[in-house]
This record gives sequence, structure tokens and C-alpha cells, in this order.
Amino acid sequence: MPETGDKVSGKAEAVDAMFGREALEAAINTNWAGKYICYFKELDSTNLRAKQEAEGGAAEGTLVAADAQTAGRGRRGRSWSSPAGVNVYFTLILKPDFRPEKAAMITLVMALAVTGGIFRTCGLEAGIKWPNDVVVNGRKVCGILTEMSVEQGRIRYVVAGVGVNVGLQEFPPEIASTASCLEAECKGPVSRTALVANILKAFEGYYESFCRELSLSGIREQYNRCLVNRGRVVRVLDPKGEYQGTARGINERGELLVEREDGSITEVYAGEVSVRGIYGYTV
Ligand code: BTN
Repeated sequence: MPETGDKVSGKAEAVDAMFGREALEAAINTNWAGKYICYFKELDSTNLRAKQEAEGGAAEGTLVAADAQTAGRGRRGRSWSSPAGVNVYFTLILKPDFRPEKAAMITLVMALAVTGGIFRTCGLEAGIKWPNDVVVNGRKVCGILTEMSVEQGRIRYVVAGVGVNVGLQEFPPEIASTASCLEAECKGPVSRTALVANILKAFEGYYESFCRELSLSGIREQYNRCLVNRGRVVRVLDPKGEYQGTARGINERGELLVEREDGSITEVYAGEVSVRGIYGYTV
């Protein structure tokens, strides 16, 4: 794992030497997503900091970004490897006016935005492993961690945290065979600044559609086109009993439609179960 922020290819370094608040401000071209930027050379976690900012009254659309994280957090209590100088770590603060049950869909909205941002930045066609791992050539390049604060049945804020592996690096042994980074996949330099700006631009449009419909109906087809599980056999790790079926895409609530052997369709909710492609990420 790099010790400093310098271990990127020479070209990438040149593309990205200015990664930071000013470069992000100049590149972000949105109405509200990323309009206010809190940038740090190093943070424990952009999600933790975003929650503090939201508690302190930060506006919707405030972006917390860092060059490195010392305690990057992943889903299911895991850590997120966050070396300096190579990757993207950011969290967007949202203050939606809908019921807390809807908030889980924000993660899927963000996953789709990440695929759009990646394509626009470096031309790679990324896919989504339901619900929200972004993969390129079968390997995970991005993780998303969405957290929410609720009071008396109302959302106070949601923080949507995104980590994208961009530059060449060594991964921790436990993920070395399933993780990759954009520069390895596209075999060239990738600008972190442009990537953040492009993800935010895509997110803003998709999120506005989601808030209008209060469902994923406006982006469902596009999401399903990116879904790497689609048409593949998946194993559903339901605490009530594991089963296998063929993934058919998501519905407008973001549930995965799994066709069982008898032809029936089960709607799988991400919060309740976990889905494994029976052949790993390359399902
Ligand atoms: C996953 O486990 O797949 C989710 C990983 C999310 C990592 C990002 S990096 C930016 C933000 N800050 C964190 O501490 N975590 C998220």
C-alpha cells in the first residue's frame, strides 16, 4: 500500500497534481450537488465528518472530500482501504423530504451515477453488482456507504459516501483478487477531479428524478442495463433460508427480482439479505 500520495504513474500525477478544493470547485458544474466543499488532506472518514457537518447545519449538497482516510468505513462494519494520492473518497450530504424507508434507494441512485461518472471520465463501461458495488471487468472499483439520521420518523439527513479506486496501488490481501482500479482497467491516467465532478453531475440528475417519482422508475431501465447479475444465477443468503435463482433486474423500489426454479419471482430487499453470484464477482 502506498505510504504517500506520490505512487501514481507519472502521467496520472500530472493530470491530477491539483486535486483539492480549488480544482473541485472549478470542475463541478452542478446546481446544488457539491456546491459547498469541505476538503481535507486527511480525515478519519468523510462519512463521519459529513455527519458532523450535517449536525452543525451544513446545507444539502455539501461535499466532504479527502485525499486520504485513516479510518475509512465500508459496509457491514468493514474498513475501507484509503491510501493518499490515488483514490477518490467523498461524501455528499442530503436532506430529503421523504420517508426514511425510501432512503435505501439513494445508494442505488449513487451507484448508477458512479457508472455514468466513470464512463464520462475515462470511457470504461462499469457495471453494478446489486445493490451498489460498482465493478469493471468483474472487479470492484467502487463502494458506497449510505447512512441516515432519523428523528421522530423523519429524515434529518442522509450521507452518501463514495470510495473509488482510481490509481495503481496494492490492495489488502483479502480483496486483492476481487478489487481493481480505474487506471489498471483503462491502462491510462484518470483525473480524480474530473471523476468527482462527473459523478456529482450524474447524481444530481438521477436524484432529482428519484425525488420527483419517489421511486426508481425513471432510472430503473438504465440501472438494469448496468446490472452485472442480470440473467445470472445468484444465491440469496436469506436468514430464513438460502435459495438460488436467476436475477431478472430491479423493480422501482430497488428490490432484486429473483426468478426461482418454479418460475415464481421473489422480490429481494437489500437490507434483509445478501446476494452472492455463485461464481463471485464475475457472475
Ligand atoms: C463498501 O463497503 O463497499 C462501501 C465502502 C464505502 C467507502 C467510502 S470512502 C468515502 C466514504 N467514507 C467512508 O468512511 N466510507 C465511504
